[in-house]
Amino acid sequence: MKRIIAIIIIFISCIAFAENDKDKSAPLVTDSSGSAEKVTDTTNPHYTGKYCSECHEKTPVSGGNKFLKYSGDFYQLCKCHGYTSSNYIHPVDIAPSEEKKAKIPSYLPLRDGKLSCITCHDIYMQCQLTPEFKLLNKRFLRGAPYKDRTALCFRCHDEKKYKKLDPHNQLDEKGKVIAEKCLYCHVEKPDENSATFKDVKLVGDLKTLCERCHGIRDKHPAGASHLRRPSLKALALMKKMESVFAITLPLDYDGKITCATCHNPHEKGVIPALRKGAKGASEKSRQRLPENMCRECHGMS
Ligand code: HEC
Ligand code: HEC
Ligand code: HEC
Ligand code: HEC
Ligand code: HEC
Ligand code: HEC
Ligand code: HEC
Repeated sequence: MKRIIAIIIIFISCIAFAENDKDKSAPLVTDSSGSAEKVTDTTNPHYTGKYCSECHEKTPVSGGNKFLKYSGDFYQLCKCHGYTSSNYIHPVDIAPSEEKKAKIPSYLPLRDGKLSCITCHDIYMQCQLTPEFKLLNKRFLRGAPYKDRTALCFRCHDEKKYKKLDPHNQLDEKGKVIAEKCLYCHVEKPDENSATFKDVKLVGDLKTLCERCHGIRDKHPAGASHLRRPSLKALALMKKMESVFAITLPLDYDGKITCATCHNPHEKGVIPALRKGAKGASEKSRQRLPENMCRECHGMS
């Protein structure tokens, strides 16, 4: 299946390349007047060669002043994506440690000595009308394509250290809780004997918490977008499941399904076995109800 998809992608990109060949001599950028077309909530400005004035005050020339709006503040420039300094998958605006600085390759540039959006994203790439890249490198990541998401991470992070960092390993050899491990996700170590979802304070947004290491999964599981508010019917089934199977299916603070609704991030033995919050810990794929979770939630049993 993967092979078929790969072939299709190559095929489509060949068409895209062929189309572009025709106007090789023409400049890549077509719309120097800025946004002739109206920009709406659903406009994707990237790789279109249009909408320059969404991000630039005036059309810049390569190598010269970039005339960026909002004094070049990326949170403003990328405001459609709703990031703030606390909810993005990777920390930015920090100066790397000496150890990291030595490892960062030159094709991942810093901005004023700090890690920035442009370190990983080649934003100028998307200023241009290059449909073939839109297909092959949707996120305009520098050095892409990567074989998997973590390949980029290991250009700067030490793969060995990173593996050891498994935050789901929460007990030492003697079976005692390693309190520092809790602090990857919790502001302070919760009391495993009594604290419930309502009591615990998590580090930032629930979904971002997991995406930091597992990547964005908006179409998961089963290729369906689950991270939404369940219908009343689905909610009723979930409530029933919680009592029938003595499990918890916690929703996020907006009542939406989140990663921890289906997955238990804790190691077996941290939360006492009799508590509902213990179910699913260290099970296959950390599912709160291994085996039949899809069927139960979809009322097919
Ligand atoms: C989504 C926002 C966005 C849009 C739309 C956009 N740009 Fe940019 N552009 C940027 C950012 C951010 C940079 C700075 C990148 C950097 O510093 O590496 C940039 C850089 C540039 C540069 C300087 C490249 C260099 O190496 O000096 C040029 C030229 C440019 N853009 C032209 C355009 C033109 C022409 C358009 C419209 C066809 C356009 N851009 C549309 C965000 C955008
Ligand atoms: C350390 C590298 C790195 C830095 C720094 C970085 N990104 Fe990303 N970004 C990525 C990677 C890798 C992905 C692809 C994630 C995936 O597909 O799982 C991504 C994906 C995205 C996406 C698409 C996913 C989505 O949420 O819809 C957006 C938008 C984005 N980044 C914006 C930003 C902005 C804005 C900044 C600066 C505040 C930034 N990035 C800084 C590596 C980085
Ligand atoms: C351009 C280099 C670079 C890339 C690529 C990169 N990082 Fe980082 N990362 C850093 C720097 C710099 C820090 C700040 C801490 C430091 O300086 O050691 C950091 C910090 C972090 C932290 C905070 C914990 C810590 O170690 O301080 C996490 C988690 C993290 N990165 C994960 C990732 C993931 C996941 C990816 C791949 C999507 C990634 N990084 C890609 C440079 C990078
Ligand atoms: C990988 C992230 C992560 C780590 C590490 C982590 N937790 Fe949690 N924890 C969560 C999330 C997300 C929730 C909210 C969902 C839930 O209630 O299970 C939570 C909830 C809890 C709860 C409430 C469970 C319930 O019954 O509702 C307790 C107790 C708890 N954590 C204890 C701990 C302890 C003790 C540690 C350290 C050994 C720890 N956690 C480490 C992510 C984590
Ligand atoms: C600091 C990085 C990090 C964070 C944050 C993190 N995980 Fe993990 N996760 C790992 C590592 C490392 C593994 C074990 C390696 C593996 O099997 O992929 C893992 C394994 C898993 C697995 C099992 C994969 C399998 O195939 O069995 C699930 C499910 C999972 N994590 C869910 C979560 C959820 C839900 C959260 C947020 C509450 C979360 N993780 C936060 C690093 C992280
Ligand atoms: C925690 C409960 C839960 C679990 C577990 C779950 N789903 Fe869902 N699923 C939902 C909800 C809620 C929706 C959104 C529709 C609704 O609200 O009724 C949804 C939507 C879907 C859709 C899209 C249907 C549509 O209306 O767009 C598919 C397909 C799907 N799920 C398949 C699966 C499969 C396959 C699994 C197991 C791998 C699974 N789901 C596990 C609750 C769940
Ligand atoms: C509606 C339930 C549901 C939600 C929500 C959900 N998952 Fe899963 N997840 C599953 C099921 C079921 C499996 C095992 C079957 C599969 O791989 O599709 C799984 C598998 C996984 C795995 C192991 C296999 C793999 O694909 O790597 C990881 C890691 C994971 N999920 C992480 C996450 C993260 C991170 C989130 C939140 C962004 C999330 N899940 C949200 C149900 C869910």
